[in-house]
Amino acid sequence: MSTKEKILRLINNDVFYKAPPEFFTCGSTDPIYPDNKVPQHHANYYRLYHALADHYQPRRIMEIGVRLGYGIGSLTLGCSTPPDYVEGWDNECYIQASLNKARKNIETLNPPPKSLTLRKLDSQKEEKLLASFDLVSIDGDHTYSGAKHDIEIVAPYCKVMLVDDYHPKNHPGVFRATNEFLAANEGIIKEHFSVTADDFTGQSIKGTYVIEFK
Ligand SMILES: C[S@@+](CC[C@H](N)C(=O)[O-])C[C@H]1O[C@@H](n2cnc3c(N)ncnc32)[C@H](O)[C@@H]1O
Repeated sequence: MSTKEKILRLINNDVFYKAPPEFFTCGSTDPIYPDNKVPQHHANYYRLYHALADHYQPRRIMEIGVRLGYGIGSLTLGCSTPPDYVEGWDNECYIQASLNKARKNIETLNPPPKSLTLRKLDSQKEEKLLASFDLVSIDGDHTYSGAKHDIEIVAPYCKVMLVDDYHPKNHPGVFRATNEFLAANEGIIKEHFSVTADDFTGQSIKGTYVIEFK
């Protein structure tokens, strides 16, 4: 069975049973989901991220583009034991003061990560990560140059890289930057494949690209 098939088999509803009831709406103050209902394609995304962590069991996790912490939360809850260290970057260009909300939200998880660092910064101004990670999720600047930059600064510092919104029509810049990185870095990549929520429900516009390094 391929790695992708193994991951798809791990997709279930556990993330919604494990997270506090209000986690994915960040209380009632989160403006991104009207009526406090997580839309199906986003729900599938969090199920997928839970499954990815279930498969890889990362001890050290990072995300560029935290927003309110749902991705980090899903990854954390997919780990059998709480990750040792979780770091997130966000410049808060989507939601003002989102990192404060993300922190409070992530701290409601049972169990939360053992250690959590959220940094307000623009990833485009960073030239490298300050530590290495088992798994890094890239979901920040979705332009071609933004995604290319994030992929390039993350690659030397992780075993598994997730590039979110790998989609030719909805996010052509992310799609192109990922494809170019794959073509130029065959020698350091162990395995790579896309997993879209379409693989299991047909209801998602999103895609995630998984790159495992040697
Ligand atoms: C699609 S949202 C992330 C959603 C989140 N990963 C989740 O699972 O809920 C993108 C986030 O990236 C942040 N962002 C955009 N450009 C950025 C940049 N250059 N540096 C850091 N964060 C950035 C935005 O503020 C926003 O919170």
